[in-house]
Amino acid sequence: MHDDWLTLLDARVPRYTSYPTAPHFHGGIGAARLSDWLSQAELDRPISLYIHVPFCHHLCWYCGCNTSVTKSDEPITRYVAALLADMERTCALLPKRPRIGHLHFGGGSPNRLTSAQFEQIMQKVHAHFDIESDAELAIEIDPRFVDDEQIRTYARAGINRASIGVQDFDAKVQMAIHRIQPFAQVRDVVDRLRAAGIAALNFDLIYGLPQQSEASILNTVKKTLSLGPNRISLFGYAHVPWMKKQQKALERFPLPDQRQRARLASLARSRLEDVYEPIGIDHFALKGDSLDQAMRAMTLRRNFQGYTTDQADTLLAFGPSSISKLPQGFVQAQSDTALWMQEVQSGRLTTMRGLALSDDDKMRGQIIEQLMCALSVDLEAIARQHNIHPAQFLPALEVAEPFLSHGMASLSGFTLRINPDWRVAARSIAALFDAYLEGGAQRHSAAV
Ligand SMILES: C[S@@+](CC[C@H](N)C(=O)[O-])C[C@H]1O[C@@H](n2cnc3c(N)ncnc32)[C@H](O)[C@@H]1O
Ligand code: SF4
Repeated sequence: MHDDWLTLLDARVPRYTSYPTAPHFHGGIGAARLSDWLSQAELDRPISLYIHVPFCHHLCWYCGCNTSVTKSDEPITRYVAALLADMERTCALLPKRPRIGHLHFGGGSPNRLTSAQFEQIMQKVHAHFDIESDAELAIEIDPRFVDDEQIRTYARAGINRASIGVQDFDAKVQMAIHRIQPFAQVRDVVDRLRAAGIAALNFDLIYGLPQQSEASILNTVKKTLSLGPNRISLFGYAHVPWMKKQQKALERFPLPDQRQRARLASLARSRLEDVYEPIGIDHFALKGDSLDQAMRAMTLRRNFQGYTTDQADTLLAFGPSSISKLPQGFVQAQSDTALWMQEVQSGRLTTMRGLALSDDDKMRGQIIEQLMCALSVDLEAIARQHNIHPAQFLPALEVAEPFLSHGMASLSGFTLRINPDWRVAARSIAALFDAYLEGGAQRHSAAV
């Protein structure tokens, strides 16, 4: 690695789970616009659903998600009632009954719901949507708190994919991040999910945590490999204590610096790549997994959950802070759970902000998604599709020069390719095509 690569990847750049990214959504898009867009929804093809559960049993200090801890079930009962009302109100605005190809329960920890609460939500889903026979129905699970009854309930409901929060198997790291989760506990959950027929499993791992060492991360990867999940996400720890106050507690131990982070990531990656196919910037899939197939077929997509096979151009999202995507643009719900509940109880849609996509947004979104998914983009083909001259990309390509001269990317004609050994640069290279970035970079986490 060149010594000055750090400066190139130093910038704080978005993870590009959408373009434009959420910090650029604005209050000019509200409930009236969502209502309009819903009434025009194109529902001949299956759409996707996301259901947010902003509750956990226990707060992990590194957590960057929109969640809160509640010991009592009562606030969750009220939340579920509001969720059902919001689904009913939203679906009443659609021109016809949609079909669902992907359903994702995310959080927070969806397994903070009791089995009965989960079933209530599924009944509502069935009341308003037809689920395709080959639909992917996924749920995020905190493995410390899932019992057999819940697993049976998920299986009965047709859940066929589970994403398990692992993070790190090392006891010292677990102490430092306030998440004690022995290996045997995760192994047991994996066995019970598989026995119930929920066989497609994903593990979330994080590098860049306090107390992590080269030996500890390799050991975490080794233990992960021994359980053989179908997919693995390897996230860089995003330290944003100005947004997530509890992350301050991680500063009791030194946080790995950028060079150490890069070393941890590259060690973990290379061991994972002995067995898994690398997908995009931070995912891995077993050969033949649908994500691997999508990557080979160039149909891999990126959405708010990360990399996906989901091709739908409409995603309806429910719950605080959740983001819906319609062909016309993005709509984000009120982030604060209490305020979100008030909106629902007052009979309103919960939209807080959003963005209507311009032609330029759509074109740049396509470029950025291709760079993040395929690590390459044919700018000439995109220019043709959007009736512009490819020379319009020359200024961005000029700024790409340092990445080219470092061997992080190459340019042939107007085709820009990221060197697969430098996927860590993908966010920074994609950012060259982000028309909104100037001045907003500090809102994001470090690229490495
Ligand atoms: C909603 S949680 C997964 C389900 C469940 N709540 C759990 O933790 O087991 C989503 C994932 O986001 C990742 N995550 C959370 N905070 C993060 C942060 N600050 N930086 C990087 N990844 C983070 C973790 O890997 C976590 O598993
Ligand atoms: S990482 Fe998961 S379990 Fe931990 S607080 Fe965040 S959402 Fe909850």
